[in-house]
Amino acid sequence: MRIAMIGTGYVGLVSGVCFSDFGHEVICVDKDPAKIAALQAGRTPIYEPGLEELMAKNVAAGRLSFTLDLAAAVAGADAVFIAVGTPTRRGSGHADLTYVMAAAAEIGAALTGYAVVVTKSTVPVGTNRAVAAAVAQANPGAEFDVASNPEFLREGAAIDDFMRPDRVVIGAETERAKKVMGDIYRPLSLREFPVVYTGLESAEMIKYAANAFLATKITFINEIAALCEKVGADIKAVSKGMGMDGRIGNKFLHAGPGYGGSCFPKDTKALARIGQDHAVPMQIVETVIKVNDEVKRRMIDKIEDLCDGHLRDKTIVVLGVTFKPNTDDMRDAPSLTIVPALVGAGAKVRVVDPEGRREGEEMLPGVVWSDNPYGAANGADLIVILTEWNEFRALDLGRLAKKMTHARMADLRNIYAADEVRAAGFTDYVGVGR
Ligand code: UDX
Repeated sequence: MRIAMIGTGYVGLVSGVCFSDFGHEVICVDKDPAKIAALQAGRTPIYEPGLEELMAKNVAAGRLSFTLDLAAAVAGADAVFIAVGTPTRRGSGHADLTYVMAAAAEIGAALTGYAVVVTKSTVPVGTNRAVAAAVAQANPGAEFDVASNPEFLREGAAIDDFMRPDRVVIGAETERAKKVMGDIYRPLSLREFPVVYTGLESAEMIKYAANAFLATKITFINEIAALCEKVGADIKAVSKGMGMDGRIGNKFLHAGPGYGGSCFPKDTKALARIGQDHAVPMQIVETVIKVNDEVKRRMIDKIEDLCDGHLRDKTIVVLGVTFKPNTDDMRDAPSLTIVPALVGAGAKVRVVDPEGRREGEEMLPGVVWSDNPYGAANGADLIVILTEWNEFRALDLGRLAKKMTHARMADLRNIYAADEVRAAGFTDYVGVGR
C-alpha cells in the first residue's frame, strides 16, 4: 500500500514509521521545514524509545521518506492519513479543527485517483463527515471515502502499543474503504490482534469515551487516596485489592499527582464540551476535570506541610517534570502547576529530569536545572519525586540523605516505602494515599 501521512507530530510520526515497518510505502508530510529537515537527516523531533532506530531501518529499506510537498505525497496514495494537531481552542474547551479542515481541503485538491482519507487525529463526533465535505468541495470530481482510525498510543510505549494493540478501531462506511484499511492493518490481523469495524460516529466516540474513562479511573483512585490518608488505609494495598477484580482491572489505578499529557486533559475537556453542545452534560467527566485540578493543588499543600508550612527560602529538589517517564513531553504536566507554586511561594527549586529540560526550561522559569539527584541534593531541605523515571526508582537514599540539610521526601508516585526511606536516614517521608 502507498500511504501519505499528513502531520509528523507524535501520532503521525509513530504511525508513519510503524506502517512503513509493516512493509507499506510511507511518505510523511509536514509544513515545518525545520522538522522535515531534521527527519530527513535521521533525527526525530520527539523523544520516544526505539523510534529513531525503527525510522532509520525503514528509510534505509526505501519505504519511508519525508517531504514538505503534500500534493506529491497524496498523488497515487491508497490512503491519506490526517494526523495534525487538535489543540484545545482558547477559552472554549472545543477541539480546534483548523488544521484538520485545512489538511482535508489540501488533500482534496491533490487527489489523483481513489484514496481513503483517514482521520487519526482525535476529533469531535461528526468531524469525519465534515472532512468528507471539505475534500469534495475542494475537488468535486474526486473519488474517495473517509475513515476514522483513532490512535491509542501511550507516549513512551508508543511503538509497542502500535505493534501490539489491544484493538484497532476503524470507522468506515463502504466496503472499498474497509478493504483498504483492512489491507493496511493486515500484518496485525494476521497476528490476531482484533480489528473492530464501526460507523464513523462510533469510532470517533470510542476514542473520547476510552480516554475519558481512563482519566476517570485515575481520578477515582486519586480521590480514594485522599480519603486513605485520613482513615489510615494504604492506597497501594487498596488498588491491588480492587484491581484483582477482573471487572475493574489493575491498570490505571496508580495514585499520583494527577493525570497530564497531550490526551487526557484535552480530550476530557472536548468531551465535556460536546456534551454541552448536545444538551447532554457529561457530569462525571466535568467532575473529573475539576477533581484532577484539585489533586495537583493538594500536592502543593502536602509539600508545604512537609516544610513546616513555610516554603520561603526552602531548597527543594524536584525529580521529574515531564508528565510521565520515557518522554520529553511537558504538555499539561502536573509539574507546570506544582513547580511554579513552589517558586511563587519563595522556595529555591532545583530540577532534575532525564529528558525534560529542552522543553521545560522555558515553561518553568526561576528554577535551577541539575544533571543528577546527588548534586542537586546538596544542602536541600526536601526532595519531591514528581515523575517516576527509572533512574529515580533505585536512588542511593543514604547518600542523598547525607547531602541534605533536612532529609525529607515527598514521593508523589509512591515508588518508595516509608520504612526504607526512614532507615536510610530521612527524617520525614510522605507518599500519596498512605
Ligand atoms: C494516553 C492513553 O493511554 C492513550 O491510549 C491515548 O491515546 C493517549 O493518551 P499518554 O497520555 O501517553 O496516553 O499516557 P498514559 O500512560 O495514559 O498516562 C496519562 C497520565 O495519567 C500521565 O500523567 C500519568 O502519570 C497518569 N497516570 C496514568 C496516573 O496518574 N495513574 C495511572 O495509574 C496511570
